[in-house]
Amino acid sequence: MLKKNLVLIGFMGVGKTSIGRKLAEILEMEFIDTDQEIQRLTNLSVSQIFIRHGETRFRSEEELLIKKLSEKEHLVIATGGGTVLKRKNIEELRKSGILIYLKARPEVIQTRVNKKGGRPLLFGDSSLERIKELLEEREEFYSNADYTLNVDGLNPEEIITLVMDLLQQIGFIDINKKS
Ligand code: S3P
Repeated sequence: MLKKNLVLIGFMGVGKTSIGRKLAEILEMEFIDTDQEIQRLTNLSVSQIFIRHGETRFRSEEELLIKKLSEKEHLVIATGGGTVLKRKNIEELRKSGILIYLKARPEVIQTRVNKKGGRPLLFGDSSLERIKELLEEREEFYSNADYTLNVDGLNPEEIITLVMDLLQQIGFIDINKKS
């Protein structure tokens, strides 16, 4: 097992948190979800930060946290959907980790985000058009990932298998060896 971090990036609702948590368990690595960590540090929910202090404040909390996490190793990091919109964050994350983009179609994303709220960027409008628009704007940032995995139509177990296969192919893990 390499000491690098494993960083999941991608749009809201693609499953970064649930997949990341499970991967960390399997790989016996520490799991950090940046949104949850920001909530813990500020004692506010992501929505409360956006509403009370604005998106800029959330983005600076995010940037500070990314810098801190990039100095660590052996972490599975689930980022927020907007984390990689700052090039600086991508550079920091890449210093110590490999970046995997979990990519899904807007229709799949819409179903998932509508199941679980708490996403201030979609408050008032979580239409397919809004999601498509944001996705289009962000694609160039997500495509900075080292690897892209298409997760459309896959259940969580299948996504885990896909990631594990990739990690094996690239030598991040060696299933024949115990870490
Ligand atoms: C955001 C995504 C959210 C959270 C915040 C902003 C974004 O995280 O960081 O609401 O800009 O896409 P998830 O991707 O975990 O929903």
